[in-house]
Amino acid sequence: MRNINYIAALDYQDMSSKAAQLIAAQLQSKPDSLLGLATGSTPVGMYQNLVSLYRKGAISFDQASSVNLDEYVGLQGEHPQSYRYFMQQHLFDQVDIQLHNTHLPDGTAEDVAAECSRYDRLIEELGRADIQVLGLGHNGHIAFNEPSQSFSGNTHCVALTDSTIEANRRFFKQGEQVPSHALTMGIKQIMGARQIILLVSGGQKAQMLHRAMTGEITPMVPASVLQLHPCVTVIADTPALACFDKEELDGEAYAVEV
Ligand code: GLP
Repeated sequence: MRNINYIAALDYQDMSSKAAQLIAAQLQSKPDSLLGLATGSTPVGMYQNLVSLYRKGAISFDQASSVNLDEYVGLQGEHPQSYRYFMQQHLFDQVDIQLHNTHLPDGTAEDVAAECSRYDRLIEELGRADIQVLGLGHNGHIAFNEPSQSFSGNTHCVALTDSTIEANRRFFKQGEQVPSHALTMGIKQIMGARQIILLVSGGQKAQMLHRAMTGEITPMVPASVLQLHPCVTVIADTPALACFDKEELDGEAYAVEV
């Protein structure tokens, strides 16, 4: 599929720096960009690079807005494993973004359906994200859209699969309960972004990345839907690209200099 560009990175640091360069280029060409942001361990290095570009004066988030993919149900923003906390720690508290322009679902809302509708309305009002960052779950999930019988539409509450709960247990204290549910943007909303960058690092995800980008498009592999998006850039390191041959990668690896 030629709508998917591949940026081959040497390692995690290189992937993170190349991803940050793309976001920085976006902010430089459109300071009031709407950034679709992701959590998980994969984008941490990208955020570190963005913070250092900000400190050097290369970029500003002052006019930018952000909309995040998902949040755990039941965790307050002050909880160290909440995605709000993650974003504050890794980006929002470190740069000049206006906090009122940063958006995540509220995992503590009593009325979950009403919170999903609120987030849907917000996404509608904000318009299409200029650039959406995604990570890849081990089972092919994007945001918290787990493998299922159909591709989801709008914001919804999901029961996390056992494998996702186990994968995310490493972030929680020993004995602490990992949330079983999350609020997540739907696949249709993610696909609404003008541009998508998918970050993948490490050999553990190599087979899944290859399957998602080149295999059957199926909701059992949620990331496979990206094959239908007109502008996807996969930034992955050498171990994560291990299952691709040269032709599949278009023979082209490129980077944007800031
Ligand atoms: C979580 C997040 C996803 C993320 C995935 C992979 O489930 N909801 O957005 O892509 O984990 O996380 P990691 O990057 O830590 O492997």
